[in-house]
Amino acid sequence: MSYFDLLIRNGTVATAADTFQADVAVKDGRVVALGENLGTADHEIDASGKLVLPGGVEGHCHIEQISSSGIMTADDFYSGTVSAVFGGTTTVIPFAAQQKGASLRQTVEDYHACAGPKAVIDYGFHLIISDPSDQVIGQELPALIRDGFTSFKVYMTYDDLRLDDYQMLEVLSAARRNGAMVMVHAENHDMIRWLSQKLLDANHWQPQYHAVSHSRAGEGEAAHRAIALSRLMDQPILVVHVSSEEAMDEIRLAQNKGLKIFAETCPQYLFLTAEDLHRDGMDGAMFCCSPPPRGAADQAAMWRGLANGTFSIFSSDHAPYRFDDSGKLKAGPEPTFKQIANGVPGIELRLPLLFSEGVGKGRIDLNRFVALTATNVAKLYGLSPRKGTIAVGSDADIAIWDPDLEQTIDHAMLHDDVGYTPYAGIKIKGWPTTVLSRGRVVVADGALHGSRGDGQFLARAVSEAAAPLGRLEPEMDPARNFGADLLGR
Ligand code: URP
Ligand code: ZN
Ligand code: ZN
Repeated sequence: MSYFDLLIRNGTVATAADTFQADVAVKDGRVVALGENLGTADHEIDASGKLVLPGGVEGHCHIEQISSSGIMTADDFYSGTVSAVFGGTTTVIPFAAQQKGASLRQTVEDYHACAGPKAVIDYGFHLIISDPSDQVIGQELPALIRDGFTSFKVYMTYDDLRLDDYQMLEVLSAARRNGAMVMVHAENHDMIRWLSQKLLDANHWQPQYHAVSHSRAGEGEAAHRAIALSRLMDQPILVVHVSSEEAMDEIRLAQNKGLKIFAETCPQYLFLTAEDLHRDGMDGAMFCCSPPPRGAADQAAMWRGLANGTFSIFSSDHAPYRFDDSGKLKAGPEPTFKQIANGVPGIELRLPLLFSEGVGKGRIDLNRFVALTATNVAKLYGLSPRKGTIAVGSDADIAIWDPDLEQTIDHAMLHDDVGYTPYAGIKIKGWPTTVLSRGRVVVADGALHGSRGDGQFLARAVSEAAAPLGRLEPEMDPARNFGADLLGR
């Protein structure tokens, strides 16, 4: 019997800060030592020629969630987490999505009941708030934040989800009082509504018009407005799934002024374009997501933003719908672009795509890759230092990568229940061949070793990133204009 449970030997370890040669020792599910000549262990993994990276933390995915138009995602908590872990992700934070009129607490209980028996890896939940009633804002949300649901998403578009600016201010002030990160889906609702109606009036109903109706200008305007609301309330926000240079420029400008505006982009904005929505017949529906993929200039802008720090995190926004009458074609064989479920799958390919085209092609370095896909996600969402890094005391959630493994993407190599991948045909180099969750091997050489229900629920802390700057606008000065309890902390 050795002191350590596991030793990962001879690998190259990379964190968000450094890359170095070290053995990694694991005991009771945690990293307990990094160094040379650490002794012996009950089990050993030889990582010669391999990269030893923190398991990915997926900060944006929709699993076993019913869309606002009533369509169930293809992946449940089993297939969704299996797919994630085969792609090197060891923690997921999907959504517990409130339907209008529903209690937020009951919503969370329902998602717990789905995830608990099925998740193969650890998970937390962001909340989606679609109905910020007095009960939700005053009672349920503060209690749930205290219970570890320390982030929530709000939408500026979608008929059944959108909040108006007044409601946005209500949730931002609740986040400020109670301590939570606010994720914002920023698109101008009426610009989408008007463009969609005019396109349909002109009999332009095919999938490609989805991209026309979700304009860059509308994304930029909503990002600007969300930033103004955040500034008024002195409450940080994270703008999710940024697709356009317009929106990115608004975010960069705000960051340059010292505002705490965080941002995320996703594989669909690096690897797909609006041209993909023009594919034959209804095939373009497979690429419909919101915001939509754009063009080459926007792709280049997203790469710049990943490299220069405008984006803190890189998420999949895995929103998987099958290309059949249970998913994308639920409204019929030829739905209008308004009837097609929004979203693309990508939870398994998130890391390999960014590794191959980002690190492999020299657009970002390995440490930035780790930061974008794991460390920063854990920090922003209150999971650090337990998740997202390889350090003494952290969970031994580790992905051992073969940086030279070359493959051409095909849906047959993936583990989701979606039936297609929008990334088919792309050649990639690098793949995580062994993946550990809390020191247990979950994936090795293409085989699953984990089981349903192995994943643990993660109650999350309030992240430092969600704390206000303490730089109030003059109009918001509590001493002059308001009582202190309006803004809380
Ligand atoms: O098209 C997308 N992104 N669907 C998922 C829902 C969302 O807005 O993230
Ligand atoms: Zn969204
Ligand atoms: Zn999403």
